[in-house]
Amino acid sequence: MKKPLPHPLLGTLSAETFMRSYWQKKPLLIRQAVPKMTPLLTRQALFALAQSQDVESRLVIQDASSQQWRMRSGPFGKRSLPSLKQSHWTLLVQGVDLHDDQLAALRDQFRFVPDARLDDVMISYATDQGGVGPHFDSYDVFLLQVQGQRRWRVSQQKDLTLRDDTPLKILRKFKADETWVLNPGDMLYLPPQCAHEGVAMGECMTYSIGFKAYGPQALAQALLPRLADMQEALSTALYRDPQQLAANHPAQIPAQLKQFAQQVLTKALGNQLASSNALGEWLSEPKEQVWFESQPQHDLRHGVRLDRKTKMLYDAKCVYVNGESWRCAGADAKALRHLANTKSLQSAHIQQASESLLALLQDWQGAGWLHALNDGEMLSK
Ligand code: SIN
Ligand code: CO
Repeated sequence: MKKPLPHPLLGTLSAETFMRSYWQKKPLLIRQAVPKMTPLLTRQALFALAQSQDVESRLVIQDASSQQWRMRSGPFGKRSLPSLKQSHWTLLVQGVDLHDDQLAALRDQFRFVPDARLDDVMISYATDQGGVGPHFDSYDVFLLQVQGQRRWRVSQQKDLTLRDDTPLKILRKFKADETWVLNPGDMLYLPPQCAHEGVAMGECMTYSIGFKAYGPQALAQALLPRLADMQEALSTALYRDPQQLAANHPAQIPAQLKQFAQQVLTKALGNQLASSNALGEWLSEPKEQVWFESQPQHDLRHGVRLDRKTKMLYDAKCVYVNGESWRCAGADAKALRHLANTKSLQSAHIQQASESLLALLQDWQGAGWLHALNDGEMLSK
């Protein structure tokens, strides 16, 4: 069997070795993961993004003498950030991959991890000594140093108790096992719940490529209401109790009603197709701040590519795009899966597409979810 090649982002490691030996298991430092790394967005462009209502941003300021942190949420007007000469502050801007093609391309280099796990790319800009304190995340994260230096301290400690006197989630005790200074192009992978602290050494920019580790509560909160909205997952019969006797204990919940409720839940949860649809629709749902601009119809003959904001996933029966699902099979399913995996369809695929698939692609193009290839105006977007 052929030995897998090193992955361009993972030093000497292949994606297979990384996933087997490090993913969800232990931290990994990769020196010069991206040689000659320079910022893909300038500081000014990042501050401009943080002014937007459609972008989630936070400002964290540390009072070094009292070890206290203050946090404010964006958007941040032109004059609302501290002076660049002031030390100990950090601006965190989420979802930057949705606003810039180069950042989207960087994000897409991490597709050795399934798209369903991706959260977003966050940029943190910090002045000297800036940081968010020792903490842990419920994320797998790749921390790519982009400008200046940052000192990362990492600990595999079991005690994850948080301080109760700050607005940030800061660990009460933090004892580092390892310390690394990252230079531009260096990258650190951290699994969820691995304690860490990054401190800027001079002006510094770091990109975090984050992957959600879903908690059972978040999953249940997202999926159960969706199941409740799916008619096919529910029974249609109303609860009936013609045998109900005159109640001697009117406050007591009738056993029969309890049983009925249990049956409704069991039926909804037992419907595999409905549960998969709920999951696919939820996973492909864009974040709150994301919106698409509708577009005039274009000729799709030369192929299509997904918009950088589009989330497209699939399972055995359906494809999911931006929170909606389509059941598909045969050649259309094959083409749509190809679109989901490669984020584009070339003209050969389009020529073989059925009428209904073409109509679907036209709809998605009109909604701004995908763009026609060979359309100069669209490609430059
Ligand atoms: C940062 O880049 O400033 C914070 C990222 C993190 O520690 O998760
Ligand atoms: Co963190």
